Amino acid sequence: MRKKLAFGNWKMNKTIKEAASFFDVMLPNLKSKDGNTEVAFFVPFIDIPISIEKVKGASSNANANIMIGAENFYYEEKGAFTGEISLDMLKDAGVNLVLIGHSERRQIFKEDYDLIQKKVEAAIAKDFLITLCCGESLEERENNKTFDIIDSELTSALKNITKDNLKKIIIAYEPIWAIGTGKTATNEEAEEVCAHIRKLIEKLYDKEASDEIHILYGGSVNAQNAKELFNMPNIDGGLVGGASLKDEFIKIVNRD
Ligand code: PGA
Repeated sequence: MRKKLAFGNWKMNKTIKEAASFFDVMLPNLKSKDGNTEVAFFVPFIDIPISIEKVKGASSNANANIMIGAENFYYEEKGAFTGEISLDMLKDAGVNLVLIGHSERRQIFKEDYDLIQKKVEAAIAKDFLITLCCGESLEERENNKTFDIIDSELTSALKNITKDNLKKIIIAYEPIWAIGTGKTATNEEAEEVCAHIRKLIEKLYDKEASDEIHILYGGSVNAQNAKELFNMPNIDGGLVGGASLKDEFIKIVNRD
C-alpha cells in the first residue's frame, strides 16, 4: 500500500520570522488524522534551520513527523559556484529531501535535461530522497505532446538510475498551465497522466517498481479539490504551492 503524501512548496516566500510563526501556529494541527499521510515542506534555504528546529520540537511531542526539504542545490561538491548550495551543506543542516526539475527552475532558470540528470545522480549518490517534477506547457498539451514531454523529461532524468535507487525518488506531475493559475487539471486529466507515468516506470523498470513508486499531482491543489485528486488510483498525493503557505494546508493533509 502506497502512503499519501502532502508536500508543500513554499517557493520564494516567507522570511525566517514568518517561517517560525507558521510552524508555531500550524504544527499542532499538521498530524494527519488517518495516520497515512506524510507531510513535507520544501522551503527557501534561509528558512531551513528554523523550520527543522520547529519540526523537531514538534515530533518529540509526538505531534508531527514532518520533513523539511530544499527547493534547490548544485550537483558539484564544492568550489567556485557563486550563489550555490551543495548537498553536503544541506545534509549538514539536517536536510535529506530535495526538489528537482520544477518547471520554474526549468523555465526561469534555464535548467536543462543535462543539468537535471546530473542533479538526480548527485542526490542519489548522497542518499537524498528526491521529488522529481515533470509536466507539459499549455501549448504542448494543445498539440497532444503531453505524453511525449513527460516521457522525455523522465527518461532523461532517470537515465542512470537503477531500480534500487528509484526507491528514493517520488515523481510529481505538474502541468505548467495549472501551476499558480487557479486552473487545476480535472481529476481525470491528472489521473490519465499519472497512470501514464506509472506505465512508463513499468516499461523502464518493472511492475514492482511501478507499483511502489509514489506519483504526486501538483498545480493549484487546494482544500476543495485535494480529496478527490488524492483518491484517484494513480495519484499518491500532491505537491502544493500557494495553499501550503497558509492554514488551508491542514485541510489538504486531513482531507475532511
Ligand atoms: P501551486 O504550485 O499549488 O501554487 O499551483 C504548485 C507547484 O508549483 O509546486
